[in-house]
Amino acid sequence: MSKIRVMDDTLANKIAAGEVVERVVSIVKELVENAIDAEADDIIIELKESGLREIRIIDNGIGMDNEDVKTAFLRHATSKIYDDDDLFNINTLGFRGEALPSIASVSDVEVRTCYKDNEVGTFLHIKGGKILAEESCATKKGTSFKITNLFYNTPARLKHLSSSYAELANVIDYVNKIALSYTSIRFKLINDDKEILSTNGSGNLLKVINNIYGPTIARKMIKIDGSNNDYEIMGYISLPEVTRSSKNHMTTIVNGRVVRNTILYKSINEAYTNYKEDSRYPVCVIIIETDPSLLDVNIHPSKLDIRFSNFDELNKLIKETIDASLKDKMLIPSINIPHNELPKYEHITLNIEREETSNNINNDYKSKLEDLVNFNIKEETSEYGDNEIVSEAITVSEDKKIPELYPVALLLGTYIVCENNEGIYLIDQHAAKERCNYERVSYELSHPNGNTIRPLVPIVIELPKNEYLTIMENKNILDDLNIEYEEFGISSIRIISHPTWFTEGREEDIIRKIIEMILNKGSDFSLEKFRDNLAKMVACKMSIKGNTFIDKPSMESLINDLRKCKNPYNCPHGRPAIIHFSIYELEKMFHRSI
Ligand SMILES: Nc1ncnc2c1ncn2[C@@H]1O[C@H](COP(=O)(O)OP(=O)(O)O)[C@@H](O)[C@H]1O
Ligand SMILES: [Mg+2]
Repeated sequence: MSKIRVMDDTLANKIAAGEVVERVVSIVKELVENAIDAEADDIIIELKESGLREIRIIDNGIGMDNEDVKTAFLRHATSKIYDDDDLFNINTLGFRGEALPSIASVSDVEVRTCYKDNEVGTFLHIKGGKILAEESCATKKGTSFKITNLFYNTPARLKHLSSSYAELANVIDYVNKIALSYTSIRFKLINDDKEILSTNGSGNLLKVINNIYGPTIARKMIKIDGSNNDYEIMGYISLPEVTRSSKNHMTTIVNGRVVRNTILYKSINEAYTNYKEDSRYPVCVIIIETDPSLLDVNIHPSKLDIRFSNFDELNKLIKETIDASLKDKMLIPSINIPHNELPKYEHITLNIEREETSNNINNDYKSKLEDLVNFNIKEETSEYGDNEIVSEAITVSEDKKIPELYPVALLLGTYIVCENNEGIYLIDQHAAKERCNYERVSYELSHPNGNTIRPLVPIVIELPKNEYLTIMENKNILDDLNIEYEEFGISSIRIISHPTWFTEGREEDIIRKIIEMILNKGSDFSLEKFRDNLAKMVACKMSIKGNTFIDKPSMESLINDLRKCKNPYNCPHGRPAIIHFSIYELEKMFHRSI
């Protein structure tokens, strides 16, 4: 007897379920996406015990007739693609025809559905892939799914589920993102009768951002849009002062699909270079539209990642668009004192804390949960009623990036306290000085004037033979920097002249640092990047350290220099150089205003 047999459908579906249905969020995702594909504009996601006990998805979409609903549970049954051509032109969220049979093979599913304006609907009860009941039922247009007994027949998978709050955190994260992608659909997410998110389907993206992150953040978002031949992008990005420790709050939507794509995140993050530290990530919702034929959406079983066929163009567009919108904005961070009355989310937060202390939490979810707790620190939206949320980002002209302000004192030898009629400003004198020096050195490096000077004290740099050879191999970098030198002895170089802008007294330091940078340069060397790193390094060496007392005229001249910078808001490493406490916030802190 032959030993190879084609497996039966129930087994095949269970195996497919391993890829498609891993946790509560995967089921929510598949069913919500089906509802969207069915053109619903009202979708309710109702969970019991974070979905571990029950998941209900109710939509007002087109529904299925009696035949279709049964076919839908067959493997590879789909109404979304019919042939190869369709696969390369996908306009729906689903297309693999796997979700329903997979879900039904590992749980108990009840579905009620009514096609368009048919008078009767169909009720179907399926467990472990077998139809247990089929009846006609009265129902309104649309479909509702109820999933219980998740993974009852796959104990290993059941065990693999995380704690209930981690499952919920993932669902919230997903529903937030899908609500951001489909602003014209009303979404409601409820867990154990408590409403977690509710959007109104008005099509206003900033409103949904407000529903999710609260007004303090919503007001600090900047609208972006841009396009080139292949791509169109739009959405909102946060002012650089609003950052998070994880990439979780970067929502990228490509042709209606929320994707997690590392190079896309990298591109966005790099567009903020100079405005924030690299290890912090912005909050953003970026909607990308392109011809579907430029995308491969079929590289991931849950369709979370995609591949772009012309990423360079997109990368360029993202960087130019973000850069253009940050360039002319007032970017002094205004300190907000958060309210912390959070009835709606309190139960989640408290329970997360409880679980965290019991150490029962997987590290992957820890950062997600921390983020959740963070977004819990938000002002209640209702406080603002139905008032339209408007971005507070202000466009400023080149010379008004820093307002008129008057230094009052120096604190701790580090912070210059300034005031004007908008409130109090603190300037970090080291960061400010570094920024001024960085912009000056960058300018010198990109506009060499050929002015050089011979060092007063001879500068001789001795190197081990191998390093000496490396330097000789990269002579062109020294030439480019206008550093004239001669070989000296066996493996040393003597500096004959260097540019005039090298800080007096730090010349040898700077040259040694340049040598070190040449020795450590990676294979992805570019002269532009080298100059930029050099400017950062020199700027740091030139700048006063914290804890140095300077007098008022020096404070004034530093502020004036800072005011002339292209980006006066951050040091070259992205740390803030100036922050603002508004009069309103001060009055709030001292309970002078309500
Ligand atoms: N909520 C829904 N409303 C209407 N039709 C649905 C719904 N959910 C599923 N269907 C139908 O069932 C089919 C199978 O769904 P699914 O297994 O998720 O595969 P896919 O979405 O990849 O087509 C869909 O193609 C669609 O025709
Ligand atoms: Mg589907």
